[in-house]
Amino acid sequence: MKNIFLIGFMGTGKSTVARRIKGRYRLGIVEMDELAAERAGMSIPEIFAQHGEEYFRNLETELLSEIGKKENVVVSCGGGIVLREGNVGLMKENGHIVLLTASPSTILKRVKHDNNRPLLKGRKSVQAIRELQEARREKYEAAADIIICVDGKQAYEVSREIMEKLKGLDD
Ligand code: S3P
Repeated sequence: MKNIFLIGFMGTGKSTVARRIKGRYRLGIVEMDELAAERAGMSIPEIFAQHGEEYFRNLETELLSEIGKKENVVVSCGGGIVLREGNVGLMKENGHIVLLTASPSTILKRVKHDNNRPLLKGRKSVQAIRELQEARREKYEAAADIIICVDGKQAYEVSREIMEKLKGLDD
């Protein structure tokens, strides 16, 4: 089976869905944010504060090249992975790209009490989230092989939908 790259805005449930897919479909799992933090020896907010976003994006690209050598893994990507076109190429070479989408109010509900996402600092409102989503929409949609809206769905429903749609792609 090809690798599965889960992309999408912060709070769309990429990590939870990846864990579900791993358990049900016996795939390996890669959590990119965790790997980045491990590699840098500090948390994501610390990476942004001490080294800046560009450093974090370089780290993401480096990790993605390494992940490309793996097989049969589901990868939970950081929300900004599509910002670099080269990253999309790396994912396409090695797997299918699945975009999870959600409304700004769903996102807000999920990230309200979270302080681990530097880009949402001072942006915890429906309006601010919508603006950031809109700024990225085109890149997310262009990268995606399949798109799934997660509003009102449990992780098991989302993962089932993903696996059904992926079957169609591999046929
Ligand atoms: C980011 C999303 C985060 C993390 C970093 C930047 C983004 O990952 O990689 O804070 O640019 O959207 P999650 O989508 O897992 O929160």
